[in-house]
Formats: sequence, structure tokens, C-alpha cells
Amino acid sequence: MPVPLPRLIVEALELEFRLHKLWSAPDPDALVKQVAGDVRAIATGVNILAEGVNFPVTGDFMAKFPKLEIVANLGVGYDNIDAKWAAANKIAVTNTPDVLTEETADTAFGLLLNAVRQFSAAERYLRAGKWQERAFPLTASLRGRTLGVFGMGRIGKAIARRAEGFGLNIVYHSRRKAPDVLYPYCASLLELAKACDILMVVVPGGPETRNAVNAEALEALGPDGILVNIARGTVVDEKALVAALQKGVILTAGLDVFADEPNVPQELIAMDHVVLLPHVGSASHVTRDAMARLVVDNLLAWRDGKPLLTPVS
Ligand code: GLV
Repeated sequence: MPVPLPRLIVEALELEFRLHKLWSAPDPDALVKQVAGDVRAIATGVNILAEGVNFPVTGDFMAKFPKLEIVANLGVGYDNIDAKWAAANKIAVTNTPDVLTEETADTAFGLLLNAVRQFSAAERYLRAGKWQERAFPLTASLRGRTLGVFGMGRIGKAIARRAEGFGLNIVYHSRRKAPDVLYPYCASLLELAKACDILMVVVPGGPETRNAVNAEALEALGPDGILVNIARGTVVDEKALVAALQKGVILTAGLDVFADEPNVPQELIAMDHVVLLPHVGSASHVTRDAMARLVVDNLLAWRDGKPLLTPVS
């Protein structure tokens, strides 16, 4: 275990396996050398779920363990693992999908409602005693809007279901058209940004999506446009976003993720109309426990020679 994972995982794994905690070893390199020949499984997690510790599970790292068979990740995203290298070397990777889908979609919708109706700013206004002077200013509205979902996977679909209930039009762009999705498909992100006035970022992080939402996409989203990102900060060109917000190229943004967490650009913090959350998409007790349990259950399935519960493709 290279990173400090939640107690539920540590305790469950200690009962079933010989667990080596790299993160608490006085000399991590020495520990790796000492156990490298025995290690068959790695339990890790994305930094927000591992007390903020960033530990890329690279090909070089995995190569140190000749008997390695599986890397079990806490997190639905697995951009902390070189999964391509793992696949090429017949090492399985598991993640924690499904159990966090609805929670994360709730967060996405909360962010959206908050950004469009400015509830955080309104509450700050009340607490500052300004209501005594006059009513909070009118805001933009969700009415008549079109939601553009960038990434129509499990969480994207759960967000779209909510959007239907809120009476929004829905369009989407994914790597490929989803056969089971009836919403209009846009062939590129740029086309999506042109077709919508809320851009909801739900694609995985990693090199393929790095800075995909760039100045051009923000320009296409337009002056009434709202960007919501609950995926990875790396998907959005943060400098371009700051500039777009400062210049009114788009209206506002709701962000749960950032390029260099927990460091949030001062320019974003300074803009009162932008809604900022500290990567809390899945951060309820019940959902985080279910994710932790899934890490353990994948490792138990592997140990017992059963099919893995949630292998990544
Ligand atoms: C959190 O960011 C996750 O990938 O589950």
C-alpha cells in the first residue's frame, strides 16, 4: 500500500493479507527492496482519497514487483495508474465505479444550481448582514438552458437523468456515440460547447483529455455559459478558464476539481461568482465506505481466484 488509505481498507486487508505500508515506512526504498519479490497486489488510491498523497503507480514502479498481478484503486478515476502499462504486462487494475455514481451526480447538480443561482454568494451576503440593506441581486436562471455532457459514462448518464427532471435540453459528446443514449450527439467538444450553455465535464483525466476544455471551447460556450467540472482539473486549461471568467467570455463556473489540488488559483478564489468545492464529489460517509469496501472485495475476489468485481477495461 503506497498511500495512506482509509482505516476500513487497512484493517480489512491486514486481516487477510500481509500488508506492507509504504507510506509509513521509515525508509520506503529499503522496504520496496526487501519485499519486492513477494508483492502480488498493490492497493492504492487517487490523492483526494489518500490523505492528499500523490503517488503515481508508474510502469517503473510496477516493474519493481515481478510477481505483481493486480493494482486495486480507491477512486473511480485511475489516472494515478499507468493502466496501459499494467495491461501490457498482464496486471489487472480495478477501480470503484457504480457505488459513487449517484453521489457524484448529486454533487454535480448541486454545483450547477449553486453556480447559476449564486446560492453561496447569497448566503455570504446574508451572513454579512447585507440583507438588512437590500435584497440580494437577481441572478441567471436554469430555465430554458441546454446541458452539454462531456463524457456520457455512468456519471454523465446520472447527471443527464437529473437534468431531465429539471426540464433541461441535453446534448453530449463522448469518445464515441453511446448506443443506448438518445440525446443528440455532438461529434466534437467544440461542437458540444457551441450547442449548449452549460458544459458539464465528466470525462476521465489523463493524457488523452489534458486541457481539452481550452480557450476556444470556452469562447464557444459563450457569455451565458456555465462550466461545471466534477471530473479532473487537468481536463480544463485552468489559465484559459481564469481569463475567460475574468473577461466575461463565460458567465461563471462550478468547480469541484483543480489542476494542482489542493492549490486553487488565487484568481479563482478572488471571483465571488465562481463556486469552488474542495473535491467532495463522492465525499459522504456512506459512499466513501462503499468505495473502500469495493477495493477490499476486488482484492478478496482476486485472492480467491474469482472474477474481479470492477476491473477497468
Ligand atoms: C475521485 O476523484 C475518484 O476518482 O473517485
